[in-house]
Amino acid sequence: MALGELGFRRPLTLACYWRDKRLIAQNYATGRRAAATPLVIDILDYCSTWRSADAMCRRFASYPRKGLLHLVRLLEARTLLNRVREDDGSIDPALDGWRDWMPEAAFFHFATKDARYEEAAATSARLRRKAASEPPPPPVKTYPRARRTPLPAAAAPSALGDVLRARRTWRRFGAAPVTSTELATLLGLTWGVQGWAETSLGRCALKTSPSGGARHPLEAYLVARRVDGVKPGLYYYDGDRHGLVSIGTRMTARRFERYLPAQPWFHEAPALVVMTAVFARTQWRYRSARAYRVVLLEAGHFCQTFCLLATALGLAPFCTAALDDRSIEHDLGVDGVTESVIYACGVGSRPRGATWAPWGPTRAPLPRIAPPASRSPRVRPRR
Ligand SMILES: Cc1cc2nc3c(=O)[nH]c(=O)nc-3n(C[C@H](O)[C@H](O)[C@H](O)COP(=O)(O)O)c2cc1C
Repeated sequence: MALGELGFRRPLTLACYWRDKRLIAQNYATGRRAAATPLVIDILDYCSTWRSADAMCRRFASYPRKGLLHLVRLLEARTLLNRVREDDGSIDPALDGWRDWMPEAAFFHFATKDARYEEAAATSARLRRKAASEPPPPPVKTYPRARRTPLPAAAAPSALGDVLRARRTWRRFGAAPVTSTELATLLGLTWGVQGWAETSLGRCALKTSPSGGARHPLEAYLVARRVDGVKPGLYYYDGDRHGLVSIGTRMTARRFERYLPAQPWFHEAPALVVMTAVFARTQWRYRSARAYRVVLLEAGHFCQTFCLLATALGLAPFCTAALDDRSIEHDLGVDGVTESVIYACGVGSRPRGATWAPWGPTRAPLPRIAPPASRSPRVRPRR
């Protein structure tokens, strides 16, 4: 078919913005962009529905045909125009659920996927140089002239306060594997369904963490590497029936390391739990793009529950947002659009004799933790 007869349409995930005095058009689902000259804007605007290249040449007849077709080809190569057979109305069914959250949340979600991660040594060196000329902002606020009201010492019921204080991010792990009982406790009390509420909108799962509108968009996938009684591999955690469903991917060390770019300190972790979001559950109820925040906030709730449970079990938990989204999504068999990677946490046993291992094996000196001014009393919960 001659180029003139081919049909084109602009993608749903297109945004324009100024950067350094230039107007840029970006397909935020692919990350491809081009300078948005007035002619490019006119073409993209015209291609809100299926248009043949011949029709474009007629529409923009004041431009030479050869140059215009060259531009169309370039826009296609940059994914700012999609080649389509006919106007069948469907742009990308997988993106349909995102329409209400476009452009704000959709732009943020897709444009920040698959980030490039700098090697840790380069980051440390860069930040040390920066701190020398531009110290980091103060970690706490002060109101030096305001009146102060002293409070009694923070107190927590039973052992909860001790667990909260003991939680740390670990980056070194012991030789002992995680036991299947420990794993089951972590999964069951973090992502397991604790009960079902019958509502006018249907059944809602109830878990140990809250969820906006009880939609519970988050799913958990286990990468088992050294868990007693669990074959190394990739699993879906079925939180309703409290069991593991094998996804059948062979888990090599290389593949696992790829999931956690530039974080060699987590590469020996015996277990990793990747959280994804099934957006339709939240999108079904909330039309405002603000609800995307809710999905991210929920992941924080779940992660903290996991870390506190692991701490209470005497294990070494961690969390990370630096993930190779695309390769994980590929292995999980999710499309990255209707279901996408959000966050991950992991766990191992503690290295023998260590009270905390904040750095990987090569980072020798451990930071000192200043003890709190006063040890908190325990309080009995109200009945
Ligand atoms: C959202 C989030 C993302 C994080 N991502 C990473 C990460 O990419 N790599 C890493 O080593 N630690 C990561 N961490 C752990 C933090 O570095 C750690 O919480 C911080 O150093 C404070 O130490 P603590 O957890 O022991 O209190 C992350 C923590 C959070 C809350």
